Amino acid sequence: MTRCVVVGRGAREHALAWALADSCEVVVTPGNAGIAAHGIAVSDRPAGELGADLVVVGPEAPLVEGLADELRAHGVPVVGPGAAGARLEGSKAYLKEFLAAAGVPTAGYAVVDTPEAAEARLRGARAPYVVKTDGLAAGKGVLVTDSLEAAIADARAKLSGRAFGPAGRRLVIEEGLTGEECSVHALCDGERVVTLAVAQDYKRLGEGDAGPNTGGMGAFAPVARVEPATLAAIEEAVLAPTVAELRRRGIDYRGVLYAGMMLTADGPALIEYNVRFGDPEAEVLAPLYRDGLFDLLASAAEGRLGPAPAPAGAAVTVVLAAAGYPEGPHAGDAISGLGADGQLSEPLEGVVVFHAGTARDASGRFVSAGGRVLAVTGTGPDLATARARAYEGAGRVDFAGCQRRLDVARGAA
Ligand code: AMP
Ligand code: GLY
Repeated sequence: MTRCVVVGRGAREHALAWALADSCEVVVTPGNAGIAAHGIAVSDRPAGELGADLVVVGPEAPLVEGLADELRAHGVPVVGPGAAGARLEGSKAYLKEFLAAAGVPTAGYAVVDTPEAAEARLRGARAPYVVKTDGLAAGKGVLVTDSLEAAIADARAKLSGRAFGPAGRRLVIEEGLTGEECSVHALCDGERVVTLAVAQDYKRLGEGDAGPNTGGMGAFAPVARVEPATLAAIEEAVLAPTVAELRRRGIDYRGVLYAGMMLTADGPALIEYNVRFGDPEAEVLAPLYRDGLFDLLASAAEGRLGPAPAPAGAAVTVVLAAAGYPEGPHAGDAISGLGADGQLSEPLEGVVVFHAGTARDASGRFVSAGGRVLAVTGTGPDLATARARAYEGAGRVDFAGCQRRLDVARGAA
């Protein structure tokens, strides 16, 4: 049987592995306690040693470090770009230079590497002020604020190297964009690009988008307010010129190209690229493409992409985060409502629990072991059903200090 290896340890990888397990044998490396409990094989061995027919790399860091190049050098098809393509996410300064060369609409910017230059640029800008570390910062390198003083202080802290180490030694200061955000995931096979259902992520910790930025507190798909004409405009103005520029640079990009879009009054603008599936977006996209996911991913990796199948219905995911997340998540809190397989102790139709940061204690109970602990996904023929199921499922799971948003997909369903 075809063997697919998924690299990563979060709910994104759980969702991808769960969806792929219908069509192939799946091994997740390193995976987590909840993935193993769900009957999906996990391994501590490196992806290259697992006899994979296809490798799907979940997180960005191994891609930036060249994992896909190594695997391809051994003839293994990979979903995920090599190091050259992964720079789109790995360096914000590179991304901005790339977008300018490609003619993709995006916020104006300056690259600075001294506090004086950062301050001068910020003083000449208008709110909202946007300060980003050049390098990867686990989703925490971006500040968007209306306070000039806060922006200047943030730039100083980042440049000092204390907050983010070398990733913060160079900054990108951007013009602030306003509008609605959405996540457009495309698959690319080096030549062709195919978009999937548009998703929306909830990045702030609190309801109504209050509180600090997080890795993502929930998501839903499809997003009906992004009309086909808008998606077509994104494909034409953003994705097509990106693939053309990648090819011009000799980069054979095979994998997920996730465009973080701002729908501004002047049209769609790219906020950033990610070179992998979003988390928690994967927890809603994987169920929507479950039947065809293996073929879709394998065809991207092998350079023979056809059209994407139609997404099946709708999905909503609600993240349960640990007490203290995102600053200092508390670990070791016992989780109630889960059975030995890590799923709801009383199963609900259309609900699946994806594990992000869980472990098992000496007695086998699941406990929190990370910032984002679980993502509870509801699926259904429409968003209202999917949302009701997700919240019904999430309502049956709890642990001390659990943080969750109650407004995921509210108003959209
Ligand atoms: P990131 O951590 O790179 O995903 O960025 C976090 C969030 O910062 C994005 O999802 C946007 O909400 C916001 N953001 C980034 N760049 C800009 C910008 N130029 N204007 C307004 N908001 C931005
Ligand atoms: N959900 C945002 C990300 O994966 O970067």
